[in-house]
Amino acid sequence: MKIAIIGSGAREHSIYEKLSRHIDPKQIFALPGNGGILNSVSIDITYPEEVKKYCLRNRIGMVIVGPEEPLVNGMADVFAETSIMVIGPTKNSAQLESSKSFAKRFMKELGIPTPDYREFTLLEDAMPQINALNGNLVLKYDGLAGGKGVYVCSSVEDVEEAYAELKKRYGEEFTFLIEKRLKGEELSLIGVTDGDTIKLFPPCKDYKKLNDGDSGPNTGGMGAYLPLKISDDVMKQIESDIVVPTMRGIKEKGLGYKGFLYFGIIITEKGPRLLEYNVRLGDPETQVLLSSMKTNLLTLLESCFNGTLKEQNVEFEDKYTTALVIASGGYPFAFRTGFEITGLNQISDDVAILHSGTQKKGKNQLLTTSGRVFTLVAKGETLEESRQKVYQAAKKIHFKKITYRKDIGGIN
Ligand code: GLY
Repeated sequence: MKIAIIGSGAREHSIYEKLSRHIDPKQIFALPGNGGILNSVSIDITYPEEVKKYCLRNRIGMVIVGPEEPLVNGMADVFAETSIMVIGPTKNSAQLESSKSFAKRFMKELGIPTPDYREFTLLEDAMPQINALNGNLVLKYDGLAGGKGVYVCSSVEDVEEAYAELKKRYGEEFTFLIEKRLKGEELSLIGVTDGDTIKLFPPCKDYKKLNDGDSGPNTGGMGAYLPLKISDDVMKQIESDIVVPTMRGIKEKGLGYKGFLYFGIIITEKGPRLLEYNVRLGDPETQVLLSSMKTNLLTLLESCFNGTLKEQNVEFEDKYTTALVIASGGYPFAFRTGFEITGLNQISDDVAILHSGTQKKGKNQLLTTSGRVFTLVAKGETLEESRQKVYQAAKKIHFKKITYRKDIGGIN
């Protein structure tokens, strides 16, 4: 069966590499892919109908959607009348990620523990709430913002600054949420579901902030590792209070969900709280998860369509895995691209080089094309061993303005 992976990041490269372990890589296509994926097909994925035409013309049997935008644009919906299996929810279900207020109402209706929130369209209406919390809150833009719509604030000034940034992007009136800020350790929990059963993967640590010590602006993610040690009691609580009611809601509301579901969770003194859903695999969480997944990913995904997901055993290697994101200086704001990349051939075989912002030029050149350029992934018997491997590899890569965090997998 031919497979099309939608997207161009290291997450999609990781899906490609994982599938290639079990099937002929010539059967796997990435739309539009990147400089590291063999069969990258230049196609504008903002138009789902174009993607559908390509898939029908090329007898694709399964479409795996990586990023959220195509799902929110109805990528899964356009395939509804075809026999092609699509991994990813419909536009309606994708609101769990594309609308923070939709997701919050869903959580509240199902009794899922989540921080209290209120919804506003004007800052002046929100001021009493902001003052009451002394600015100690989380400001969330209601729509998709490519990882740049959430501001964790510590003062009223922080909130005003964050609001001003959003106003520059979205104009005078837009919906935003003010959410109580909670303290605790955050984790990413991802699973695959057929809309009835969900199979959870091990929880991962994701580093969202740009700089060491978790400072600076939010990004799409600068690194990750697994396994994150969570006690059995907390894990049981996450399952009973968050995962089970979510699946009940998906069924009761007829969301007909087939694909990956991501729970952004914080462990507070009072127990786990759900911060957000993503309707896809996380990036860079995927890079650590799929590197250490033992189960055949294609069989697992097919089981979402043939009713056998319940019987599937999803297994992972008993190792530590670290992912380090190599980025362009200036990311997540303005940055320059088109810089030549060298040194990849110096990296040892036990480190996976997953491309996200690269493009081939001529026979031998590789250029930077975006903010996140690579994810380096390595495994080890200890977390320290896996992080040492990715940091040794990072030193060998060169391009102008290269940047990466120095504390991924370390003790913060
Ligand atoms: N790493 C966070 C995300 O994929 O949204």
